[in-house]
Amino acid sequence: MDLLKRRIIEDGTELGTEVVKVDSFLNHQLDIGLFMAIGKEISRRFGHLGINKILTIESSGIGIAAITALYFDLVPVVFAKKTQPNTMTEDFYGAEVKSFTKGTVSVARVSKQYLNPEDRVLIIDDFLAHGEAAMGLCSLVEQAGGTVCGIAAVIEKEFQGGSKKLRDAGYYVDSLAVITAIRDGQITFKD
Ligand code: G4P
Ligand code: NA
Ligand code: NA
Repeated sequence: MDLLKRRIIEDGTELGTEVVKVDSFLNHQLDIGLFMAIGKEISRRFGHLGINKILTIESSGIGIAAITALYFDLVPVVFAKKTQPNTMTEDFYGAEVKSFTKGTVSVARVSKQYLNPEDRVLIIDDFLAHGEAAMGLCSLVEQAGGTVCGIAAVIEKEFQGGSKKLRDAGYYVDSLAVITAIRDGQITFKD
């Protein structure tokens, strides 16, 4: 997706060789026009799969997932929570998620009410790095007896191996901008 790659080059900043900071349009300030283009592109790539629910994880996945739902006939958007809120008294599905970037382990949780066997789920996240978050979300869907139809990331850092791990596990993964390396302040994309 050229529009997105251009935006990453123009407005992204590199933190060393591992992390790209995109606060001006994706992670802090949100560019809704760009989100609409992203949602449309995700529906072009995943729209034929009979998806009836979108699943993401708080917090940065929520905005993208919500706008993308506009292009999937307003399917419900569910986000996994990373802390157990006092209000979540009902039973939940849980999956442990390690964060390599942040060095933390958390449990992604979704109430059993909101994931079910008839669900055909598209998993969306802003970043795909080591694939831990996406793997955890797949587990939640499967605990509920639902089907993971695909995994869409806005930005994938291919060199961190998440997409390979997910594909090896049998999932259909497609990312809109695939970064192969960050070196000397230069971001390199696939294609
Ligand atoms: P993984 O799930 O693919 O294994 O990724 P990882 O643990 O490395 O990522 C942990 C958090 O850092 C995730 O956000 C992820 O979106 C974010 N992240 C990973 N790589 C980058 C990057 O290069 N740039 C930016 N800006 N973020 C990155 P999170 O902990 O779920 O938090 P939130 O920001 O969504 O609340
Ligand atoms: Na994120
Ligand atoms: Na359920």
